Amino acid sequence: MHQFHVKYNFEFERKIKACFIGAGGHSFRNVYAAFPYAPVDLVAICDQNEQRAADYARQFGALRHYSDANEMLEKEQPDAVFIVTAYHPDGRVQATDLALDALRRGVHVWMEKPTAASVEEIEALREAGRAANKFVMTGLKKVFFPAIEKTKQLISSPEFGRPASIYVRYPQALPAAEDRAVLKKMTSFLDHIYHPGAILHYLMGRVSSLVYDREPFNGGSVTNLRFESGAVGTMHLTAGISGSSPLERLEIVGENANVVVDNGVKLTYYRKANRPAYGRSASYIVPDETAPLVWEPEFSLGQLYNKNIFYLGYVPEIVHFCESVLADTPPVKGTLDASLEIAKLFEAYRFGPEGERIVLN
Ligand SMILES: NC(=O)c1ccc[n+]([C@@H]2O[C@H](COP(=O)([O-])OP(=O)(O)OC[C@H]3O[C@@H](n4cnc5c(N)ncnc54)[C@H](O)[C@@H]3O)[C@@H](O)[C@H]2O)c1
Repeated sequence: MHQFHVKYNFEFERKIKACFIGAGGHSFRNVYAAFPYAPVDLVAICDQNEQRAADYARQFGALRHYSDANEMLEKEQPDAVFIVTAYHPDGRVQATDLALDALRRGVHVWMEKPTAASVEEIEALREAGRAANKFVMTGLKKVFFPAIEKTKQLISSPEFGRPASIYVRYPQALPAAEDRAVLKKMTSFLDHIYHPGAILHYLMGRVSSLVYDREPFNGGSVTNLRFESGAVGTMHLTAGISGSSPLERLEIVGENANVVVDNGVKLTYYRKANRPAYGRSASYIVPDETAPLVWEPEFSLGQLYNKNIFYLGYVPEIVHFCESVLADTPPVKGTLDASLEIAKLFEAYRFGPEGERIVLN
């Protein structure tokens, strides 16, 4: 678990020399905003919109700004580059090409999801990373949520038993079959499949096969999954839910035990317990030793854990990348192997027939 003692940026003895490509909305709110808690020496920022690059440099303490990414990397010679860009007009991911350019220059890459729009492009990134001997990490924030990390720890314990089944809920529409060949029409799906996809892979391992069905009213879908471990799962993509509703719910069942994560922060561990005698129990209260365990954050104190940059995993994912670069050991989360499995999932929906079993691995 990433239960690390948080250091402030100015307290780190060693930092990575970093550049940043992209001065957009998400990066402003969540990625630059995480640097005060990570060993990052931000030297320069680049955006095609030069004024934006200048404004962000002033705001976030970078020394220089650029409008051309290659010029920035050439002049600055950083250890690493953070890439938070968007999509090309045809729906391809801008960060994929930028990451390949950075690797060719021998620069480690941290990039936002999606890593790429196809399995083939992720394999190209893997090859380029290997050739340059540099790391590519994607910001799979979900696997850095304290609640998800704790879930992983709980389901890996002998008391939980083997993780047997999983339910993941996420609101996302799948376009109609005739639209899916057009990558541009799949942008929203590609953008979001990374979130439930990252959770499934982190907690349950690789998917071996799946079957999905889609409803025509909102584009919601249900998918039944079989994992290589033998476990099964359901992904419910709940397009059509209310804008006032929490987005996510997750449940994993082991052997006489289960874990539920609601809304990304409320974690309940139903430990192995005997059900009170049927027809004869006046109380539902089980003994303290087997009672459920519940965690949720308080929102009163000016703490770090109740800032979204912590409970949504942004600071931990960036610290993980920086520590990997500083130690020269590959990241173990947000890896290209994880992105590859998510890309296989994406392509199964894009090209695989509805209602028929599709084999991924
Ligand atoms: N993990 C999350 O929670 C989360 C949330 C929102 C968005 N995102 C991801 O973040 C990315 C979008 O972030 P945003 O909201 O900051 O996007 P944005 O569109 O607001 O900003 C993207 C910026 O990149 C710049 N850019 C594009 N290509 C460039 C290039 N070659 N050189 C220099 N600058 C270039 C654009 O000019 C723009 O300012 C997407 O990948 C999205 O999936 C992740």
